[in-house]
Amino acid sequence: MSVISIIGAGSVGSTIAYTLVTSKVCSKLLLVDVVTERAQAEVGMIDYNETNDFDTVVEAGSFKKAGQSDIIVITAGAKQKEGETRLDLVGRNTGILNGVFNDMAPLNPKAVVIIVANPCDILTYIAQEISGLPRKQVFGSGTFLDTQRLRAYLSSTLNITESSIHAYVMGEHGDSQFTAWSAGTIGNCHIDSILPKDFNKQQCEDYVKNKAYKIIKNKGATYYGISACVKSLCSSVLFDSRHVCMISHYIPHLNVCVSLPCVLGKNGVELTLTPHLNEKENASLLGSASAMRNTLDSYRT
Ligand code: 2OP
Repeated sequence: MSVISIIGAGSVGSTIAYTLVTSKVCSKLLLVDVVTERAQAEVGMIDYNETNDFDTVVEAGSFKKAGQSDIIVITAGAKQKEGETRLDLVGRNTGILNGVFNDMAPLNPKAVVIIVANPCDILTYIAQEISGLPRKQVFGSGTFLDTQRLRAYLSSTLNITESSIHAYVMGEHGDSQFTAWSAGTIGNCHIDSILPKDFNKQQCEDYVKNKAYKIIKNKGATYYGISACVKSLCSSVLFDSRHVCMISHYIPHLNVCVSLPCVLGKNGVELTLTPHLNEKENASLLGSASAMRNTLDSYRT
């Protein structure tokens, strides 16, 4: 029996719930919200499907029950408004995160926690501190989503399927992110040998970085893409698939959480991989790390 809890029944939390249920990833799913009626209403919507053969029991749960799950997905928090960056949410969402962990305590010591709320990298670091769990069991969805956006862009430009495109967005899930072009391959060929001569890398990176801003401007929020990503992350953990993922986790030599490639399994982050980065990309990684450190320090003083 595998239980996933989703904290926060807003547009992101409830879309993740629906995606998990229709994909048959877990046997039980708890949807939890400070506004209990909201979680109950969403559960009612998911359950209300006469043709359903979902196999997952869906319930509106309490914070205490959620703390005993195998996976806890945290989406609770304010979302970006038009013109706001993810880092602008730090004050509001850190308070909410503290409250959530307080209400869930004591946690299942084997629980894996996935932080989806923004600013994802900052909240992942703070969740590692306050949860009391081993750091590897607490990670953020990070640039998994940006990497999917990059692959989709490259796939449509090159007319090559996404699963053969090994190109990654690293660093912050936010404005200081960067594409590690020097570590990119397609099949087993270096990406530079496949990209057309006139391919504009900067334009591609800008498209990926600004995609969420564009969606937020046009429809107020993003939720389908992140839901598909969280579904993949949950199944990697529950099935111990050991996929190489771009997720936000603790990087000891940087002393912050940012996204670098790692192996994801039943205990969370099983191994961090060290990609080959050129000088510019290394500088970008350090830039992301220092942006995260400055935000953590300024928030705490
Ligand atoms: C996204 O990138 C807003 O972080 C969210 O879709």
